[in-house]
Amino acid sequence: MAAHPLETTPRPDPNAGVRLQEPSLEDGPELWRMARDSRVLDVNSPYSYTLWCRDFADTSVVAKDGDRTCGFVTGYVRPTDPGTFFVWQVAVDHAHRGRGLARRMLDGLADRLTARGHRWLEATVTPGNTASTAMFESFARDHGCTVTRAPLFGPEHLPGDHEPEVLFRIGPLPARA
Ligand SMILES: CC(C)(COP(=O)(O)OP(=O)(O)OC[C@H]1O[C@@H](n2cnc3c(N)ncnc32)[C@H](O)[C@@H]1OP(=O)(O)O)[C@@H](O)C(=O)NCCC(=O)NCCS
Repeated sequence: MAAHPLETTPRPDPNAGVRLQEPSLEDGPELWRMARDSRVLDVNSPYSYTLWCRDFADTSVVAKDGDRTCGFVTGYVRPTDPGTFFVWQVAVDHAHRGRGLARRMLDGLADRLTARGHRWLEATVTPGNTASTAMFESFARDHGCTVTRAPLFGPEHLPGDHEPEVLFRIGPLPARA
């Protein structure tokens, strides 16, 4: 029997074959490209992304679809507050959005870091970034955590026409062996 014209075939999941790993030096230029293409993130120098991949790989994640990088999370453990890891930037390529990839990367990073005793996640979000707000709220909800919000960086800290950045603090994440 022919399918009803209004029946839709489910779109294949573009993230089905995507694998997550720690970044290596070769990923630096791809992180820079993705930040640039997001048109939302602050675009830092190519040098800074490559340096990040050298020195903060074990608190960061890249998502690979075949050879192509399609997502990343950069983060670090706060030197003055070692129980807390700070998520600096998160990006997913347009073609891979809306299918849980950002959550998968954040969950993977949280698994890695809670196993080492880091139980709080911090990030800053600009008030207009609906997707980012929803992503961190989704993460907190599914980990049974609260989210506290407080202004962190205002115009006095961020020159130019940068929006203010609100600190999201999420935790405590469940302890892991
Ligand atoms: C933010 C971003 C990383 C989300 O990536 P993604 O893979 O599409 O997100 P996910 O599919 O994992 O969604 C996670 C949650 O956020 C929600 N969400 C994602 N995009 C959303 C949007 N545009 N509007 C509203 N909610 C959104 C999802 O519904 C999901 O919530 P749920 O669990 O309650 O259903 C992606 O949109 C992006 O790269 N944006 C540009 C860069 C950026 O803003 N980064 C964040 C600041 S560091």
